[in-house]
Amino acid sequence: MESGAMEGVRVMEGMKVVEGASVMEGVKVAEGANVMEGVKVADGSGTREERAVARERLVCPPGHVRVMDNFLRPLLHRPRKLFGPYVREGMTVLDVGCGGGFASMGLAELVGEGGRVIAADLQPEMLAMVKKRARETGLADRVRIHRCNAYGVGLRERLDFALAFWMVHEVVDLEAFLAEMYGFLRPGGHFFVAEPRVHVTRADFEDLIEAARRAGFTVADLPRVSLSRAVVLSR
Ligand SMILES: C[S@@+](CC[C@H](N)C(=O)[O-])C[C@H]1O[C@@H](n2cnc3c(N)ncnc32)[C@H](O)[C@@H]1O
Repeated sequence: MESGAMEGVRVMEGMKVVEGASVMEGVKVAEGANVMEGVKVADGSGTREERAVARERLVCPPGHVRVMDNFLRPLLHRPRKLFGPYVREGMTVLDVGCGGGFASMGLAELVGEGGRVIAADLQPEMLAMVKKRARETGLADRVRIHRCNAYGVGLRERLDFALAFWMVHEVVDLEAFLAEMYGFLRPGGHFFVAEPRVHVTRADFEDLIEAARRAGFTVADLPRVSLSRAVVLSR
């Protein structure tokens, strides 16, 4: 676990037991709790092609936001601690696959009034949540909402930093996605990728890093992130 995180916490509030569901790798099951609907055990089985097919089936529905992006999330994944070393005031940054937007809000604090966060997602329901959240927290002027499509992220801006938190395993064409992200970043920019251990095995994650190297990235760091496998890529 990330230091300062909720070591010993076994159950996320609001989670329900669903019959046939399975358990996050590395998380203990407390009595009567702690599983997500539809989550598969990360057992590393299958060929690379089979794992790729499984990845295609995993697009997180908006109904799961309250499970993974509730009040506990910024305690478990502290934006300032995780992204602070790479994000400065005035930067233009991307939160791709932003979901409910906990990280977009954290990034908006870090870039300050002169900076810009692009919160991007495939699903309009997710973007509506982020828009509402930005308005309610007084950060709307520095958060731009961007809808991606099935063919790509499709940005015009050049980026200083990009984040993909628990998102890349849902991307259908990984090579195309990484090439696009590499193209968006300015030289010296960083791309922070965190993947959930529950869906992404060590082998999957090593494949991801290899694909990122082929796209031109170098590995700047392998940070410890709770419940995740993480890498900071450098352009
Ligand atoms: C598991 S959620 C994670 C949300 C958020 N980053 C978090 O950590 O709470 C994954 C998100 O990625 C989005 N997503 C999946 N594939 C995408 C793609 N190709 N482009 C943009 N967003 C995508 C999904 O719609 C979903 O909101």
